[in-house]
Amino acid sequence: MGVRFLKMAVIYIVLGIGIGIYMGATLNFALTSVHAHANLFGWATLALCGFTYLRFPKAAESRLAKWHFWLHGTGLPIMLISLSFIANGYDQEWLSIIKRMGETVAGCGILVFAVNVFLNVKDINTAEKRGATFE
Ligand code: HEM
Ligand code: HEM
Repeated sequence: MGVRFLKMAVIYIVLGIGIGIYMGATLNFALTSVHAHANLFGWATLALCGFTYLRFPKAAESRLAKWHFWLHGTGLPIMLISLSFIANGYDQEWLSIIKRMGETVAGCGILVFAVNVFLNVKDINTAEKRGATFE
């Protein structure tokens, strides 16, 4: 699961930096919030979660990790795509509703992650103590 999170994370840093370069080149900063959240809620958060799962295999093996993966993996793109339209002036009410749904789904993913950390991240559960090898 950790590897899947890291792969999802790099998609967001490519996207986030692409938007950053676009904004710098065009001097159009409408997408600042999309850029910030792609880089931070995408790349940084997903990579930290990915490394957490790599270090604590019991958390990675839990069904909570799968739920986290799918909630974060569906909620965040919905949040960023709808936010991109809103930031460019398409301020219809239904778009805001979709954005809030994406935020809530992604937020639920983080809640599931938090529960998983409290239940399964313990000193005795580290990858080293369970004899895992790192490549
Ligand atoms: C080539 C890489 C990058 C470029 C060209 C770039 C460019 C930009 C630009 C043009 C802005 C808007 C500034 C403004 O509105 O005044 C911005 C804001 C921001 N960037 Fe980047 N960025 C890059 C990488 C990153 C990375 C890797 C992160 C985080 C991991 C990041 C986080 C942020 C944040 C949080 C903001 C919002 C700052 C605020 O609200 O004041 N950026 N970036
Ligand atoms: C469902 C989750 C989240 C929601 C609903 C949310 C919402 C927001 C909102 C409404 C703003 C103000 C945007 C603006 O003024 O244009 C904001 C800004 C910001 N958020 Fe979040 N956020 C979320 C998650 C996160 C996470 C996980 C991080 C960092 C790891 C983060 C970092 C930031 C930063 C750095 C800014 C300032 C940059 C900007 O102007 O966009 N956010 N967020």
